[in-house]
Amino acid sequence: MDIAVVGSNMVDLISYIDRMPTEGETVEAPDFRLGCGGKGANQAVAASRLGSDVLMVTRVGNDMFADNTIHNLEDNGIDTTYVMRTEATSGVAPIFVDPQSRNSIIIVKGANAKLCADDIAAARQAIAGCKLIIMQLEIPLETVYATVDLAGELGIPVLLNPAPADPRLSLDRVRGVEFIVPNESELSLISGMPVDTRADIVNAAHVLLDAGIPHVIVTLGAKGALWVSAAGQRLIPAQTVEAVDTTGAGDAFIGCFSHMWTTTGDVEASIRAANQYAAESVTRRGTQTSYAWGHGREPRGAR
Ligand code: RIB
Ligand code: NA
Repeated sequence: MDIAVVGSNMVDLISYIDRMPTEGETVEAPDFRLGCGGKGANQAVAASRLGSDVLMVTRVGNDMFADNTIHNLEDNGIDTTYVMRTEATSGVAPIFVDPQSRNSIIIVKGANAKLCADDIAAARQAIAGCKLIIMQLEIPLETVYATVDLAGELGIPVLLNPAPADPRLSLDRVRGVEFIVPNESELSLISGMPVDTRADIVNAAHVLLDAGIPHVIVTLGAKGALWVSAAGQRLIPAQTVEAVDTTGAGDAFIGCFSHMWTTTGDVEASIRAANQYAAESVTRRGTQTSYAWGHGREPRGAR
């Protein structure tokens, strides 16, 4: 295996709305999509579609969504040996996308909240062969910390996407990660610093560098990404596209970056490719439904 994703899966319930209802009001929305999501699964699917061999460690519930989620991961070529069924609801994410393609997301973690350090320990042998471990914050923080510790023992680099941002994240417990990839608001929350200007963003990134994390990659949406390391800072711009649905664009970025970096080891080229892959995803509706397949890859059992 090339990449282990230790993270979440959700079922995305995406309503395309004209506007949000006010209290007590019922409004009609013009369109709806049901899709597989969750930041962990999204990142796993993007990396796998591009050609990486991906292992996912996650928990699904005991409801009608569980089989569908497992089949979806398999159809995307992902190893599901460590997808565990749990006495809980599956994670779900009601999502609202407005006419400006802006999204609002509610996550109900369900089974994801039960992913524990023992689950990661059980997958140790499989994880040991990977070149990179990817995590997000839709699983318990203690599980994230335990995985960072395990990765340190095994000598495997970790990419942490601190999303959704959690102010309780201890930088001290994740100082061993190689890459941290926040967006601007996540960077502000975890560093405790403002991010109103480019100088602010660089200062905030330095809080993470000072904590011991060598590479801070701040995703800036349509503006691209800012890479800050001991070597300095570099803005890698994205191409301009007509946005239809930005949901899951950050996950597309991370899945592509991870695939490229584990293949080439070139951070800047990987960011450039990730910008492009994410930009392409915002031109299509949905999360995983908007991720392109790489050359020679196709859905398993494509029908
Ligand atoms: O990053 C987008 C994802 O966030 C969605 O797929 C949703 O499930 C939430 O986890
Ligand atoms: Na999209």
